[in-house]
Amino acid sequence: MNDVYILAIESSCDDTSAAVLKNDVLLSNVTASQAVHEAYGGVVPELASRAHQQNIVPVVDQALKRAGVEKEQLSAIAFTRGPGLMGSLLVGVSFAKGLARSLGVPMIDVNHLQGHVLAHFIKESDGDNDVPEFPFLCLLVSGGNSQIIQVNAYNDMKILGQTIDDAAGEAIDKCSKVMGLGYPGGPIIDKLARQGNPEAFQFAKPQIKGYDYSFSGLKTSFLYSLRDWLKEDADFVEHHKADLAASLEKTIVDILMKKLRLAAKETGIRRVAVAGGVSANTGLRNAFHDHARRYGWKVFIPKFSYTTDNAAMIGITGYFKYQDKDFCTIDAPAFARMEN
Ligand code: KG4
Repeated sequence: MNDVYILAIESSCDDTSAAVLKNDVLLSNVTASQAVHEAYGGVVPELASRAHQQNIVPVVDQALKRAGVEKEQLSAIAFTRGPGLMGSLLVGVSFAKGLARSLGVPMIDVNHLQGHVLAHFIKESDGDNDVPEFPFLCLLVSGGNSQIIQVNAYNDMKILGQTIDDAAGEAIDKCSKVMGLGYPGGPIIDKLARQGNPEAFQFAKPQIKGYDYSFSGLKTSFLYSLRDWLKEDADFVEHHKADLAASLEKTIVDILMKKLRLAAKETGIRRVAVAGGVSANTGLRNAFHDHARRYGWKVFIPKFSYTTDNAAMIGITGYFKYQDKDFCTIDAPAFARMEN
């Protein structure tokens, strides 16, 4: 079979990313992040779309150059269709469709969440074969999602449970914001937590049945506790930030792992992966290694570069869809929320 060259584009939130793959091997993965949002403590959708507009051409150009691939060699163009911010998605979707049309190659629409899960199949060389066998469980934790997914095949995934309110990353970011620590909070909390005592403070844990998650109660508990402590000591955060970060991280990791243990027990599946921005978290990674030792799980933890939004994961998903000839047409719209 001829080699397949896929250009993939990701623009669902605040990272403009393009990747080139030769079959399932990654040749390049270029991402332009948007510092403009830091001053606002969160992503400003209109500013994100404008930055994507500025970044998309140079990012795609760089990805092709680094891969050493001419656009005329491309077999197909894959792009994130959703979920995400509509204005951001539209930049990548329109660009990808226009380029695919002009080159006369198929277009492949990719669900961003499916991309996060399939990031585990990205190979950096031909001999790179440590990929999960089906079926496996995947904990998908990001700024917008917290889900436990049973992955039966590339194109057969079942959501066993998900958050009924906030996502884990969103809770971390909001707690970091109320502590005045900056945005995004995830990496800041992670760094501080390494120096703190995870048992120093207790925060509310949800009592939800089944595999679903909830993080809004924790967020409120954190906020109210902090408000009370600040009444006693105006510099409470400054004096206790490492312990606050460590306790918050531990609470979130405990909540995530408890439901995952339940899912592993009840499905009998012992291959367990983690994906999404929060999978960069040290405490969560340690908990995965600990569960591997204690429960005999085979765990799959992505490289840091594939945890946050990136086009490589869109490219690998595009490659699998290319093999199934699962293409989309020019009228495939972007979607902000999950379609089903
Ligand atoms: O998957 P992702 O890049 O995209 C969105 O869903 O937007 O995830 C971003 C989330 C943010 O909430 C960020 O704070 C969190 O991932 N994050 C982390 C860490 N690095 C990023 N959370 C905890 N620890 C980290 N090291």
